[in-house]
Amino acid sequence: MVTGDNLVAEYKGTHPGSQRLHERAVKVFAAHGATHTVRVLDPFRPYFTHAQGSRKWDVDGNEYIDYVMGHGGLILGHSHPAVVQAVQEQMAKGAHYGESHELELRWAELIKSMMPTAERVEFFSCGQEANMMAIRLSRVFTGRKKILRFKENFHGWGDELAHEGSAGIVADEVNIIPFNDLVKVERELATEEYAALLTEGGGAFAGGRVHIDTDFVRAMPGLAHKYGTVWVLDEVVTGFRDAPGGWQSVVGVRPDLTTLGKCVSGGLPGGAIVGRADIMDAFDPKTPPERLIVHSGTWNANPLVCSAGIAACELYQDGEPQRKAGDFADYLRERGNKVLKEKAINGRLYSRTIVHLYLGPIDYEPSDDTMPPTKDIGKIMDPARLPVRARLCLHLLQRGIATMNGEIFILSAAHRKEDIDQTVQALSDSLDAMIAEGTIARP
Ligand SMILES: Cc1ncc(COP(=O)(O)O)c(C=O)c1O
Repeated sequence: MVTGDNLVAEYKGTHPGSQRLHERAVKVFAAHGATHTVRVLDPFRPYFTHAQGSRKWDVDGNEYIDYVMGHGGLILGHSHPAVVQAVQEQMAKGAHYGESHELELRWAELIKSMMPTAERVEFFSCGQEANMMAIRLSRVFTGRKKILRFKENFHGWGDELAHEGSAGIVADEVNIIPFNDLVKVERELATEEYAALLTEGGGAFAGGRVHIDTDFVRAMPGLAHKYGTVWVLDEVVTGFRDAPGGWQSVVGVRPDLTTLGKCVSGGLPGGAIVGRADIMDAFDPKTPPERLIVHSGTWNANPLVCSAGIAACELYQDGEPQRKAGDFADYLRERGNKVLKEKAINGRLYSRTIVHLYLGPIDYEPSDDTMPPTKDIGKIMDPARLPVRARLCLHLLQRGIATMNGEIFILSAAHRKEDIDQTVQALSDSLDAMIAEGTIARP
């Protein structure tokens, strides 16, 4: 077991400025001084001043290789020159006209050109707003109220999107069932009570912590339509990260509605819903009042976000950023998994451009490392492993590597081979330190 907390003392020693800011923050922000759940860490996460490409720097001058990457929104890396230029130029021309403008049209046309299911496009301030509207559209279209969705899938913090059992939510019309179980899906849909079937693209939780069976996802549209339900695919993480056509183009499915966020708006806050014209025509003012949906939202399609979205989407079109991020992810998994095997640690790095680190019992060796080494979702989501991940997160931060919770490594096109080599070394050193202090066990 840990004998003394040298790591925390060391970390505080190299992060005095961040500690001072954290001490101020706990008097202001209720969540241990943090402004987002994943920014909570004991003793505290660093406070940052600037970022560029794959790197970011904290108030104490410490440099990090960044794998948080704007919670997945920055597949181009920090401050891509094309996005910076577009936003700077637009800021000088006005951030909000409160009117229509050509930028919103250009952005929507770019999205439409990449995603063939996008017959219509609407913009929002973030991904979860798009999901909320997808539910509303499905209810109006079907005349039903119930929503079917999956355990472990994440769609936002709103009542009908939040994780099952979250405090304070009212989600009476939402039914949450296990992932990857087609029989249960059909049993529910056959009641013909469901307006929408909501599915997270790419697998559950941050683009694939829990693997989604390809046969399962390919059966979704057919099953939904058989029982008159709208199939909504949440591509907030995967849209334009997995491919220019989104994850749906990789697996070959056509959702009725797709929700987008993160990468779509090039690093500024934005979201979109795209999909079938006959469903989205509920926004048309000629629609009878009982079927008309009002789409307000102060920040919808504001010129600043549109300028970033256009600059980014123009770069996504040829698939080059996605390929680069994919290559760096492959390299990280390959080198990192070698380290885990050499140290005989139960665990694997897996998935696609958002690499997940699973530390736990291995049930089988999948044919490739896009898949987790266990089919047991309970083991992957096991909350008992949170302290180990938090400890690894701190060890990695102290070695200049910023991850989400010591579990998620989000790659971008701006990462370099040297970044990955440095990361693997830091991971190896962190694991050695954890074995020595007794915070990680070997079988
Ligand atoms: C799959 C998925 N859907 C929706 C959301 C919510 O998006 P936002 O935070 O932009 O509201 C997230 C956020 O991480 C997400 O991962």
